[in-house]
Amino acid sequence: MSSFLVTGANRGIGLEYCRQLHTRGDQVIAVCRTASPELEDIGVRLEAGIELTAEADLDDLLQRLSGQPLDAVILNAGILENNRLENFDSESLLRQFEVNALAPLRLVAALLPNLQSGSKLALMTSRMGSIDDNSSGSSYGYRMSKVALNMAGRSLAIDLRPREIAVALLHPGLVRTRMINFNPLGVSTEEAVRGLIERIDALSMETSGSFWHANGTLLPW
Ligand SMILES: NC(=O)c1ccc[n+]([C@@H]2O[C@H](COP(=O)([O-])OP(=O)(O)OC[C@H]3O[C@@H](n4cnc5c(N)ncnc54)[C@H](OP(=O)(O)O)[C@@H]3O)[C@@H](O)[C@H]2O)c1
Repeated sequence: MSSFLVTGANRGIGLEYCRQLHTRGDQVIAVCRTASPELEDIGVRLEAGIELTAEADLDDLLQRLSGQPLDAVILNAGILENNRLENFDSESLLRQFEVNALAPLRLVAALLPNLQSGSKLALMTSRMGSIDDNSSGSSYGYRMSKVALNMAGRSLAIDLRPREIAVALLHPGLVRTRMINFNPLGVSTEEAVRGLIERIDALSMETSGSFWHANGTLLPW
């Protein structure tokens, strides 16, 4: 049994991570702002009341996790806001940067004492953070924040290599969650998370620092 911490655990992809990891017998620590009935029903350890951009909440979380070894941390919480040039909104861009790029890196830095040789970090990024793959433009805040997260992930992979902590940048595919208004073209959270967990299980020091689609394809930066 491994211990997994999951952020953004109350709905969407994070909720499904909790479900599948718990079902296969792993210990799950579910971090969220407000627990949902669906999350409470799973029966995992809940750490609610955590706004990931608030220093005081992070301090609180660290105290609750003091002495808790973590085999894997899934930095899943994120936001998507619609930014076009025509409705340029600096506040929105900064908000997405703070939640999608800064908060995960700050949490990893804070959780270093809980990680050991063999621990894994899974950063939930997006193909929309691939510069090579950008053929449709727009979405400035989301795209820029995920590029920044990708770069943070590469640096983490280098800096944590001496401690034998592996890092994966993971794109879940287009997934039917509230983030994309449950777009029917998306795959189910069940299917996406099955692939994502396979990627985390397969992650090794040899593959650390790579950018993967949930389906196992390597993605371009
Ligand atoms: N769905 C897709 O097609 C897709 C594609 C590519 C990448 N992704 C990435 O996959 C991850 C999960 O996305 P999803 O589709 O599951 O989205 P979602 O259904 O919108 O869920 C987002 C989660 O993040 C949490 N969150 C947002 N801001 C937070 C904050 N400041 N502090 C704490 N928690 C916060 C939300 O909590 P609240 O309920 O409290 O708001 C919620 O649990 C994201 O990083 C997203 O960028 C998704």
